[in-house]
Amino acid sequence: MAPSEPNALPFRPKGEIPEFKEEREGWGGYIEWEKYPEKKKQVEEILKNYDFPAPPEFQLVPLPNTNPILTGERFKQYHQATGLGHIPDISWQYVLKEKSPDMIHVLQFPYNGEPPRDRLMENEITPNPLFFVRNHGGVPEIDPAKFTLDIGGLVNNPKRLTLADLQNESLFPRQTNIVSLQCSGTRRIEQIHEYPGDGDELINAPWSEGAIGAAKWTGVSLKKVIKHCGGLKDGAMHIELFGADTYFKKGKVYNYVVSIPWRKVKAGEVLLAWEMNGEPLPKIHGFPLRAVVFGYIGARSCKWLYEIKAIKDPSEAPVQRKEYLYYTPQIGKQNALYSNGFSIQDMPVSSAIMSPKDMQHVVHDGKVKLKGWAYSGGGHWPIRVEVSGDGGSIWYEVPWENLSTKYYHAWRLWEVDLPVEAEGWLEFLVRTWDNALNTQPTFVRSAWNWDLHVTSSCHRIKIYSINRSRPATAARLKLLEEKGIDIVPITRPLPFDLETDEQYEAAMKAQKGREPLE
Ligand code: MTE
Repeated sequence: MAPSEPNALPFRPKGEIPEFKEEREGWGGYIEWEKYPEKKKQVEEILKNYDFPAPPEFQLVPLPNTNPILTGERFKQYHQATGLGHIPDISWQYVLKEKSPDMIHVLQFPYNGEPPRDRLMENEITPNPLFFVRNHGGVPEIDPAKFTLDIGGLVNNPKRLTLADLQNESLFPRQTNIVSLQCSGTRRIEQIHEYPGDGDELINAPWSEGAIGAAKWTGVSLKKVIKHCGGLKDGAMHIELFGADTYFKKGKVYNYVVSIPWRKVKAGEVLLAWEMNGEPLPKIHGFPLRAVVFGYIGARSCKWLYEIKAIKDPSEAPVQRKEYLYYTPQIGKQNALYSNGFSIQDMPVSSAIMSPKDMQHVVHDGKVKLKGWAYSGGGHWPIRVEVSGDGGSIWYEVPWENLSTKYYHAWRLWEVDLPVEAEGWLEFLVRTWDNALNTQPTFVRSAWNWDLHVTSSCHRIKIYSINRSRPATAARLKLLEEKGIDIVPITRPLPFDLETDEQYEAAMKAQKGREPLE
């Protein structure tokens, strides 16, 4: 594993390290916590004995220029203290095995990674190795032959189904949908750069624009599965989803648990998927079974799904009740409560410029090619993408032909040749309109929130424009080429005089000197 965060002390056991057995044969890394309050209590007692390293500071100081960017020592040590020290290593092995070697490892453990910007733009449907990953714990290793899914709580006929049952087309019609998943942390780095916010114990990962992708998911509708169990009873309104991974929060241990309203399931917008882009789900993306909740924040799309429970109210589990909350700008460390933020469900309209990159120089002939993505959750779709080359005064529409296929629940990639006459530092922006006429706030500040979720403001990048269609620029570029000098880095001084004395004097004469005559 990569070097640790510099100020984290190495782990030192305090007393005997416990051994928590895996719940079931063939289910590596799955420790059941939710059914055993006494086991949870035991972990709470163990964790109290330790001073774990504080989460690293990465908002008030620059991010490390390393890959992995952050390593997650605190979470590794939680696992070591509870006899689960092997889990971070297993998780990392799956990163190396299943993900593209050029992934940006935003956080090593629990693994959070996104693809480089240009790679994400290569395909309308994101290939599995390039799809972002957001984990709260390790990667369970579940034998599909031993896998079962329990459906219980307030359903008329609770059932245990195997993967073969779910894949039996005489029981459940099979369904394939193209759906985007987006982490609510996408583009968080822009909020951090504007104003630091909550660091979070798990680490509010400093994502760029890559915590989004679109895949073709195959599985069965959760609605049909609930119907197979005789439907709901006793006023059930929510469906709770249990993931087999282990998660720690504020000195306690949990499985990953979230819930979705029944009306979302009833609309046929929740898939239990075993295939991603025509292949079995990669282990790191939830093998053998995960939920895919269309148009919602990625957090509800529970991976390594092993249990489904119909309940009356939203889940009391911490990921549902205490996380993914959206606060007003006046809420922060001084006054945040779980009840004064709202729970993020439908994702708003958003977009990003993926090429060129922020702070890049662009040599062009009066037009700059921009590429990016646009997405809107909740069943909306991007209908118009607009770009600006002057900080947001003048907007150009991306021709509709330059937007990829529209889907109810997936992003659209776009590209445009933007007219750019001006030179020097320019600010490029993108904003998207969805079919319900929602668009994006203009400034990061307009939608900044303490937990740094859902950066929905117009995406802005700074580029250094060098317009070769201007004669003076063309002449300078030609000279540089003749001399074998690169224009970049633009900050490096030119090694030759900018003009001859004769040229200078002729220019001064034409301008009638530097000073007025009288
Ligand atoms: N499910 C489990 N069991 N554990 C997790 O940590 N992370 C959630 C969700 N489902 C998570 C999970 C979050 S926050 C997101 S954004 C998506 O999975 C990411 O899905 P992906 O890693 O397959 O891209």
